[in-house]
Amino acid sequence: MDLVLKGGWVVTAERVEQADVAVKGAKIAAVGPDLSTEGAEVRDVTGKYLLPGAIDAHVHYQMAIGDLMTADDWFTGTRLAACGGVTTVIDYAEPTSPAETLTASLERRLKEAGEQACIDYGLHQVVLPGQEDDEGELAAVVARGVPSFKVFTTYNQRLSLDAIGRLLEKARRLGALVTVHCEDHGIVTARKEELIAAGKTDPAYHALSRPERAEVRAIKDVIALAGEAGAPVYIVHVSTGGGAAVIAAARREGRPVYGETCPHYLLLTEEKYAGPDGRLYLMCPPLRTAGDNEELWRHLSAGSLQVVATDHCSYTPRQKNAGTAFYNTPSGVPGTETLLPLLYSFGVRSGRLTLPQMVKVLATNPARLFGLYPRKGDLAPGSDADIVVFNPRKEVVLTAAHLHSAAGYTIFEGFRLQGYPEATYLRGRLIYEGGRFLGRAGDGCFIPGRR
Ligand code: URP
Ligand code: ZN
Ligand code: ZN
Repeated sequence: MDLVLKGGWVVTAERVEQADVAVKGAKIAAVGPDLSTEGAEVRDVTGKYLLPGAIDAHVHYQMAIGDLMTADDWFTGTRLAACGGVTTVIDYAEPTSPAETLTASLERRLKEAGEQACIDYGLHQVVLPGQEDDEGELAAVVARGVPSFKVFTTYNQRLSLDAIGRLLEKARRLGALVTVHCEDHGIVTARKEELIAAGKTDPAYHALSRPERAEVRAIKDVIALAGEAGAPVYIVHVSTGGGAAVIAAARREGRPVYGETCPHYLLLTEEKYAGPDGRLYLMCPPLRTAGDNEELWRHLSAGSLQVVATDHCSYTPRQKNAGTAFYNTPSGVPGTETLLPLLYSFGVRSGRLTLPQMVKVLATNPARLFGLYPRKGDLAPGSDADIVVFNPRKEVVLTAAHLHSAAGYTIFEGFRLQGYPEATYLRGRLIYEGGRFLGRAGDGCFIPGRR
């Protein structure tokens, strides 16, 4: 054995048990009581939890929109992830325009990530209008290890509902999962125009400009299309109780419909937009109400939402504050580094989730849905030795000064946490310990997904 983590509490999606974890090379070799330590480095983790490395299944690192580049690139994004106990991220391969083929955009993103990523990564393939009918390209992407497509019902990249329906049919044939940003474009556009006509353009109007019914309408439409196509579907960043209820209803009928939410939709409300730093909290869909927070927690705990990811899409305050209105402020917030500790403090410690449920929504479920399981998302013999040593007693007040995003701020500034990652292992190597990043650019590997 190379390493034995001794005396901790091993947490998986199924159970919490006092057990040692033995690592040989990049893999977990054994999990059980009183494992032999002969010849191995031993780490005493008494009183700590051993968790599978978290998977942030929704990030945007090094993403360009026109001239605007996100603050975090593949290096800083994956570095901050390691510091938060995240060992795998799933980002996006997005064609620069419909003229760039899916496979060209995928190879471009793989090259960028391969040079810089310090943790493992997968990709979702964004499909732009007109690209949904090219089954050869879609099949090539899946064969390369990218078994999920991403489409939008709004923004310039939006696909028509007909096009989404055709993509869902092809995805079913290819065994791929279509993931969808759901906001009804007609509702969002009409509301934006009304607000502009009334001179209501500052960030305080952001939430009003993208109302709950826009999300609910789009989720209903997309779920109906998935039903017609006989295909599974995954709704990204569900922000409303109403949206989660539509997913829950479909699942009660036995439909393969999956939903993701984000820490900011669980913990923050739209009042932030009226504050002096309103722009720093601007993302799409917007923050909602305290009632939505509670409904999302309820659906997460009931299993109607399966994944918590962050939609990490960071800009500096300078970039955010260059916006003059809610509709031209760069949209997106940093989040990967605080994903696990927030979910522990406000999910597990506050009694909304059990430890196994937390592991499910942060690791096991995203690994299964995106074809990374059992290599990722579990602490079991044969899985990659991606392990977080988590100290449930460590008290932390979140502040940007201690975090690692190039954005330089956190939307959770001042949040009081109890429980924080103490060390992160990636494939058996220590890449983070006690506030210090120990990994290296380029050490992250592409993990092909096979559904
Ligand atoms: O505002 C957001 N969420 N920006 C990232 C892109 C997206 O829509 O997920
Ligand atoms: Zn989105
Ligand atoms: Zn996103």
